[in-house]
Amino acid sequence: MAQSELVVVANRLPVDRVTDKDGNESWRRSPGGLVTALEQVMAGSDAAWVGWPGKADLFMDPFEFDGNLLVPVRLSQDNLEYYYEGFSNGTIWPLYHDVIATPIYRRSWWDSYVRVNKRFADAAASVAAEGGLVWVQDYQLQLVPKMLREIRPDLTIGYFHHIPFPAYGLYAQLPWRSEVIEGLLGADVLGFQRVADAGNFQRSVRRLFRYPTKSNRIEVPTGDGTTRSVVAAPFPISIDAQAFVDLAKKPEIIARSKEIREQLGNPKKILLGVDRLDYTKGIRHRLKAFGEMLEDGTAKVGEVTLVQVASPSRPGVEAYQDLRDEIELTVGRINGDHDTMHHTAIRYLHQGFPREEMVALYLAADVLLITALRDGMNLVAKEYAAVRTDQRGVLVLSEFAGAADELNAALMINPHDIDGMKAAIIQAIEMSPAEQGRRMRSMRRRVLEHDVERWGKRFMTAVEDIRAEQREQ
Ligand code: G6P
Repeated sequence: MAQSELVVVANRLPVDRVTDKDGNESWRRSPGGLVTALEQVMAGSDAAWVGWPGKADLFMDPFEFDGNLLVPVRLSQDNLEYYYEGFSNGTIWPLYHDVIATPIYRRSWWDSYVRVNKRFADAAASVAAEGGLVWVQDYQLQLVPKMLREIRPDLTIGYFHHIPFPAYGLYAQLPWRSEVIEGLLGADVLGFQRVADAGNFQRSVRRLFRYPTKSNRIEVPTGDGTTRSVVAAPFPISIDAQAFVDLAKKPEIIARSKEIREQLGNPKKILLGVDRLDYTKGIRHRLKAFGEMLEDGTAKVGEVTLVQVASPSRPGVEAYQDLRDEIELTVGRINGDHDTMHHTAIRYLHQGFPREEMVALYLAADVLLITALRDGMNLVAKEYAAVRTDQRGVLVLSEFAGAADELNAALMINPHDIDGMKAAIIQAIEMSPAEQGRRMRSMRRRVLEHDVERWGKRFMTAVEDIRAEQREQ
C-alpha cells in the first residue's frame, strides 16, 4: 500500500456510506465540526485518512477520494454499541462536558474502547511513511497515540482534542483515568481548544503522575532514565472563512435567504438555532426562554420566529432519545399555545442541510442563538460571523462555548440564567444597525484572520519544532 507522510486518524472518515430509499449506495460528507475543519488541512496533499465509514460491518479496501487515500476501519455492531455509543458517547462525552448528563462507567465498554483504539493504531501504522506524521483526532481515540508509538517509534504523533477537557475534580471519576492520560501522552503535541482545557489536562497529569510541567511542556519519563517532552497547548480551531464568505456573496444564496424570510411569513425578526441534537447545546434552555417571551409578550408570533435546526445525532444513545422526546414535546406545546393559521412560533427542523442552505439561513437570521451548556468550540458561531459580509446580525453566545474566548463582541450569556438570556435576546432584537455593525466587524476580523488554515499551520509548526528538537538530541 502507498505510504503517506501525513496520516489523519479520526473516528469517522470525512465521508459516510449511505443508502437512499431506492437502495442506491453513495458517499456523503460526514457531520460535525471535525470533518469541516480538517478537510481544508488535507486538501491538496497526498495525505491518508484512517476512519470508520459510518455503517456497521462495512469491510472495504482503502480508496482514493478527492486526491486523498481513505482507509476504512471496520466496526462491528458490537463495537458500535460498546466503543462508539458506549464508552465514547455514554462515558467520555458527558464526563468531559462537565457531567451535564450522567456518565456511565461500564467495564465492557472500556474493553471495547481499548480493542477498537488498537485497530485504529494498527491501521495508521500500516499506511504511515517512515518518519512520517500521524495526526490523531478527538476523544474517541485517546489511546491511539501511545499504542502507535509502541508499534512505530519512528513517527511524530500529534493529537487534537476537539471537545473540552474537564477539571480534575470531575476527570478523577473516570475509573481508567490513568490509562487515558498515558494514552494521550504518547503524542508529541497535544492540542486543546481553550487555555482552560490545556490547563485542566496538565493539572490531571500532575495530580496522577507528578510529571513536571513547565508552561506548555510536560516531561514524560521514557523508562531509560531520560525524559521526552510533550507539548500540551491551546490551538483554537476555526473554519474555512473565505469559503463561507464566497458562498455568502452568491446571488442564488442571497435570493434563497430572502425566500426563506418570505416562506416564514415575513416576520420582523428571525431568531436561529443550529445544533446537533445534543444535550450539551442548551436547546431546552433556549426554548424555555423563548416560550416565556411569548407568554409575557416580549415576543409575538408573526413578529418574531425562532428557526431551530437540530440535526439528528447519536440516535442509539438513550440520553439523546430522551432529549429528542423532551425537545419535541416542548416545541409542540409552545407552537400549540401560540401558533396562528399564518405563523408559527418555532419552525423546528430535525434534519441536516447542505452548506449552501445553511449560509442562506444565516443570512436570513437577525439573531443567532448559541446557548451551549458546555462546548469545545462551536463553529456555527464562527460561520455566522464569516457570512455576515453585510455587517448585520447579532450573535448571542454562551460563555461556556470555546468560541466565547475569541468572539468577545458577541452578547454573552449564561444559559442557566433564563432571565439573563431573555434580556440578551431582547437586546439583540432591538439592537441598532450601528451597534450590530460595530460588533459584527470585530468578530469577523477575528474569524477571517484566525481561519482553519492558520489553525492547521500553527499545529503543524508546533509538531515540526518538536521534531527538530528530537533530531538534535
Ligand atoms: C463533535 C465531535 C466529533 C464528532 C461530531 C459528530 O463535533 O467533536 O468528534 O465527529 O461531534 O458526532 P458523531 O458522533 O456523529 O461523529
